Amino acid sequence: MRSGEKFILGLIAVSVVVVGGLRYWQQAREEERPGDRELPFYSTASPELAREAMQLIRREGCRDCHSLWAVRNPMQAVPAPALDGIGSLHEEAWFYQYLSAEDPQAILPSRLKPEYRMPSYAHLSERERRVLAAYLASLKVEDWYLSQVKKAEYEKLTGLPYRP
Ligand code: HEC
Repeated sequence: MRSGEKFILGLIAVSVVVVGGLRYWQQAREEERPGDRELPFYSTASPELAREAMQLIRREGCRDCHSLWAVRNPMQAVPAPALDGIGSLHEEAWFYQYLSAEDPQAILPSRLKPEYRMPSYAHLSERERRVLAAYLASLKVEDWYLSQVKKAEYEKLTGLPYRP
């Protein structure tokens, strides 16, 4: 092999390594940036459950106080925790108990004026409370965003800055 050929081959080898390395680095960076991914919230509910639950949520005005799927009543300003991702924080049985309680604040204390607190939904039919509990439990958040949801919930519930 002449030295000119060696030089060209060497050049090709170096560019293969450099281009490969760049690609790898770019991919690794894309995977690190959660901001570039889609919304972290999702539901595992069937379409039937989602439809029935969303009807109840509309009828009962849950979004007067809570945001859900990033929607809430813009005329209201109750600092209630968001419901997006709430199913990653509690079990279905907990939601059912909470909605069925005559005094929800005995389960989850409130820092707010009585008119802003979570109302009791004990008067709903058992089926309606089960549908709501199953749907709330289906509202999940991706693991990479879970700590954000915990922080936001803590700050809404206590009015204090979150220190993990
Ligand atoms: C009047 C405002 C208001 C309405 C209407 C309301 N909530 Fe709430 N909710 C709150 C507040 C405020 C809290 C936080 C606890 C408290 O302060 O009582 C809360 C807490 C919750 C929690 C627990 C959140 C957590 O972080 O653990 C769930 C779940 C919930 N509400 C679901 C619902 C559902 C479902 C509806 C409709 C059927 C609803 N809420 C209607 C104000 C409201």
